[in-house]
Amino acid sequence: MKRRDFLKSTSLTGVGLAVGTTLTNCSENSKTENLASTTRSALSLPLVIATWNVPNATTKAWEILQKGSNALDAVEQGCKVEEADINNQSVGKGGLPDRDGNVTLDACIMDKNGNCGSVVHLQNITHAISIARNVMENTPHVMLSGKGAEQYAYKLGYKKENLLTEASKKKWEEWKITSKYKPIINIENHDTIGMLAIDKNGDISGACTTSGLAYKMAGRVGDSPIIGSGLFIDNEIGGCVATGLGEEVVKTVGSFLVVELMRQGKSPQAACEEAIKRIINKPNSDYKNFQVGYIAVNKKGETGSFAIHEWFSMTKFHDGKNENIQSKFIIKAK
Ligand code: GLY
Repeated sequence: MKRRDFLKSTSLTGVGLAVGTTLTNCSENSKTENLASTTRSALSLPLVIATWNVPNATTKAWEILQKGSNALDAVEQGCKVEEADINNQSVGKGGLPDRDGNVTLDACIMDKNGNCGSVVHLQNITHAISIARNVMENTPHVMLSGKGAEQYAYKLGYKKENLLTEASKKKWEEWKITSKYKPIINIENHDTIGMLAIDKNGDISGACTTSGLAYKMAGRVGDSPIIGSGLFIDNEIGGCVATGLGEEVVKTVGSFLVVELMRQGKSPQAACEEAIKRIINKPNSDYKNFQVGYIAVNKKGETGSFAIHEWFSMTKFHDGKNENIQSKFIIKAK
């Protein structure tokens, strides 16, 4: 039996049963017509998709793929575009800080061979994704955190930078007046940037990077640096990245779940929908008050995206066209 057939027939049988649950306990049941359609791409390669409306990031990745470079280079370079953009206040330099005014970054990356690297709670370095890649390629480890990750970046030659811009500092100072912590759905139509690419050879890589939830507790870590939660790639099957409230993604190991559902034969779209259902069907889930979104791609180049709330979107660069595609959802925005 081929490895892929063996995995299809044996993996996560329990998941296959559990995701059979429907949305019948859900007052937004009328929205279920949004479910189970598939965004099919033509099968030409390469292809890149990213969470949210990030045309500059997908353009960068596309250019790299067009030159014949691999998917890993594409997702790293694509993510770096957003990390360097100080107007994006949820990623890299200019990211909103924690409650104490410190900008802390989480990122991870995964290649076609299942290798992965991540950094957690990294400070003073803009390009968390590149440090994560270095962890993967040039250390015996998978994750580096805090001061260790920062020191490693300096060893690699990165310079210390102040990531707290004037604009983000001003917002933090305004927030301090009430100091009310509440995750905001679709914060400024952004959140984590997650990117998945398939190169001309058909190989898949993925990356994600974030400054995490604004005004989080010091030391808080979300889903984005956790392999399997914020990101998962299996080059035989496909890849997935998550965005939104990381705590809820971690509780269901969301990206791994999506890839496993694709392994069982679901399309990327159906797999993303099942993974969102897994979150909202949890007992006492507060899903009406938080956002989670997934994007996924399979080995054939089919893509999908789904979110709890309206206004999540996916940027897709394929066949020379860079498009922002509104994601399907459970709950319509008021
Ligand atoms: N998804 C990003 C975070 O929760 O930190």
